Amino acid sequence: MKESQPSAIFLKDYKVPPFLIDKTELTFDLEEATTIVTSRLHMRRNPAFGKSTAPLVLDGGEDVKLIGVAMDNYSLPPEEYRVSEDKLIITATADKFVLTCETLIEPQNNTRLEGLYRSSSMFCTQCEAEGFRHITYYLDRPDVMSVFTTTIIADESRYPVMLSNGNEVERGKTEEGKTVVVWHDPFPKPAYLFALVAGDLAVKNDVFTTQSQRDVKLQIFTETHNIDKVDYAMEALKRSMRWDEEAYGREYDLDIFMIVAVDDFNMGAMENKGLNIFNSSCLLASPETTTDDNYLRVEAIVAHEYFHNWSGNRVTCRDWFQLSLKEGFTVFRDQTFSADMHSETVKRVEDVAFLKTAQFAEDAGPMAHPVRPASFIEISNFYTLTVYEKGAEIVRMIHTLLGAEKFRAGSDLYFERHDGQAVTCDDFVAAMQDASGVDLSQFKRWYSQAGTPTVLVTDSFDESTGTYRLTMKQDTPATPGQPTKLAVHIPVRVGLLDPQGAELTSSVQGVDAQEHVLHLTSNEQDFEFTGLTARPVPSLLRGFSAPVKLRYDYSTTDLLLLMSSDTDGFNRWSASQQLAVGELNTLIKQSIDGETLSIDSQLALGFKTLLNDASLDPAMVALVLALPSQAYLSELANPIYPAAIKQARDFLKAQLANVLIEDFKRVYHEHNVTGEYQAVAEDIARRSLKNTALSYWVETGNELAQQAVLDQFQSANNMTDQFAALSIAVNTQHAKAADLLSAFYEQWKNEPLVVNKWLMLSASQESDAALTTVKSLMAHPAFDLKNPNKVRSVLGGFGQSMSGFHNADGSGYRFLADQIIVLNKKNPQIASRLCTPLTRWKKLQPELSVKMKAELERILAEDLSKDVYEVVSKSLA
Ligand code: ARG
Ligand code: ZN
Repeated sequence: MKESQPSAIFLKDYKVPPFLIDKTELTFDLEEATTIVTSRLHMRRNPAFGKSTAPLVLDGGEDVKLIGVAMDNYSLPPEEYRVSEDKLIITATADKFVLTCETLIEPQNNTRLEGLYRSSSMFCTQCEAEGFRHITYYLDRPDVMSVFTTTIIADESRYPVMLSNGNEVERGKTEEGKTVVVWHDPFPKPAYLFALVAGDLAVKNDVFTTQSQRDVKLQIFTETHNIDKVDYAMEALKRSMRWDEEAYGREYDLDIFMIVAVDDFNMGAMENKGLNIFNSSCLLASPETTTDDNYLRVEAIVAHEYFHNWSGNRVTCRDWFQLSLKEGFTVFRDQTFSADMHSETVKRVEDVAFLKTAQFAEDAGPMAHPVRPASFIEISNFYTLTVYEKGAEIVRMIHTLLGAEKFRAGSDLYFERHDGQAVTCDDFVAAMQDASGVDLSQFKRWYSQAGTPTVLVTDSFDESTGTYRLTMKQDTPATPGQPTKLAVHIPVRVGLLDPQGAELTSSVQGVDAQEHVLHLTSNEQDFEFTGLTARPVPSLLRGFSAPVKLRYDYSTTDLLLLMSSDTDGFNRWSASQQLAVGELNTLIKQSIDGETLSIDSQLALGFKTLLNDASLDPAMVALVLALPSQAYLSELANPIYPAAIKQARDFLKAQLANVLIEDFKRVYHEHNVTGEYQAVAEDIARRSLKNTALSYWVETGNELAQQAVLDQFQSANNMTDQFAALSIAVNTQHAKAADLLSAFYEQWKNEPLVVNKWLMLSASQESDAALTTVKSLMAHPAFDLKNPNKVRSVLGGFGQSMSGFHNADGSGYRFLADQIIVLNKKNPQIASRLCTPLTRWKKLQPELSVKMKAELERILAEDLSKDVYEVVSKSLA
């Protein structure tokens, strides 16, 4: 352990910056081993800070070597400045001056993948959140916005493509024959949006004509061998640009928009002004190598980063506590975009399933934090499901409370009022409130309170008056640092069905409608529906109108009715999940108690109806058929018995498969259409139902089904079907599973993104040798500890294997902890992310819990990065 541990910084301590930087001129003399960066910062004291003689304190990194510093061309002698661990402090400054700094950095040795680093044969950057300080000394905070001019000097034979933000304004040669390219970005921006790329890259060009008839040049750059895989991303980009004009009135501002794919990237992608940089796994797509899910992901992320041009770049964050200002809003925007491009209900179900699994777990764990956190040790740890996905739910609730029209007026006002500014979540809500006249003061508690509220619903029916009453109680559990909570404003969308499943009209506070939005604002509240003749079945929280855990004691009959008849597609799915969870919990309990598993599944009934209803969207049928995941069942459980959850799930799946074998077989064949691959909703839906049906059919052990898996693996003309066949073979321990895995690797060993999928599947295999398998994967030539995608594939895959990760002897936990300790030094962000499964130790069954905790303690004893220290210490607190 270090002698002094890193300390937290607090939102309440925010102060405006003492200095501003009007212009930033950067010169990069690019060399792999040592790059020299010269910066000329046109600075002045910030009038908003008040009169001050405070010293100038610039942020830097331990990996930045200062060569020299000058003030208005006067080179500062050592006694006039001080370099501490990560700051450059200049005691005396004028009110206005130009600061010149020369620094040396080592891109080749940059394994953190923050700042300027190498990926394959190229140079690239990642500056959000605080990566720019690993390039040069700067006021590295989002409320310091500056106009950047960037000069890149490099050897053109190796780096013919040299890019930065904005427009290329000059090109020439140095005396030594190196090429010089100058880029200028007219829009003031914080340093986190700076980007630079240099490499021998291929490009795909296109043009987009904006609503005001301006032509924007579009360019996607990749390494040469990947340029045939960018067509889909380019089309997705054009759809995003059009959609943002239509849905939000937002037009693109520069004359050029560039995207670059890089193989080594900590996250998904980055919205640098005019020059987005993508993890290649989130950009490249081809039918042979990319699954349907990945296609949709590419489209969503291209859209997300593009939408940031307004929600993030034109209007940015004042400080990093406000991260959800841009991320929550932009996720909401990309979710709506994807819903518009494909199916609204399917998209909603997928997003909610993910939220309820992963974000709810985070909100119930030691890292729980508000959407606008009050403090942090390392901001990189706060690029979380809470900030992103729960943040998007908050924006969605505002949309529900205001209605579409007023929401649009609110977003128009927000962009107009704050264009070119760095603002807060409060500013966002104020614009929504001012434009709509809707009072959002209590609603704002969603930003500051962590934890998932529970809404407990009971009901009664008064036959004499035809009045149906819902009583709702809300409660938000304590979270670290927040022992008590206030009531939040929860919009609850509700409809009522009669016992035959027909939608009823009822009256709430004098308004007659089939659907009502109830405003739950107190700890306990009653809502009355009048004009009814019989007791209705309530369809509660339609469309998942608030991120809460709603509890209502539905009977199986009610759930089957909702599942087959609700007009709200989302709640049809939700009913099926509740039914499945009920049955699975019975089985889990039997397993924990050492009983023989047995159940008379009612779910089979619901499934049968669905499988025989040709009018339904096959994608929705597939979603209903997919049993609640292991991870979701773990989130619901306390304590978690991983092996029991797996046993229960396998048991129910096999039982359903046997009862409905003929239906699954028929549906498989009905939807097994071949033809040219297209990533369009209709085809994606059929493939997903077909492959779900196949996964059940195979569970029966039927020989035809076993053969169908092999045939599909061999003959598929697209990765979706081929990989589905392979996954089914591996997950059902098909006799040929091992052969298929090696055949798959042989076929795709030259396609790194496909190899990553192979690594993931191989690492997640259930077997007594799971740990040995994962160790051999890490020694495999296809593995590379420096590549985040590969680390995620292997260690993420391993985390899904019950016999491997949750092995009773604790060897799985020990192995993961060992990897975290190694990566802590090389890449703190990735190391910190890998800690997530260990943070759940308190909820685990006692025998496993102690073993997990011991591994966290072992990690804490190391000399840790801020990233890993924060997660591990908070988990043990
Ligand atoms: N702003 C990026 C996005 O679109 C995320 C980048 C975060 N990167 C990081 N290293 N923390 O969501
Ligand atoms: Zn984002």
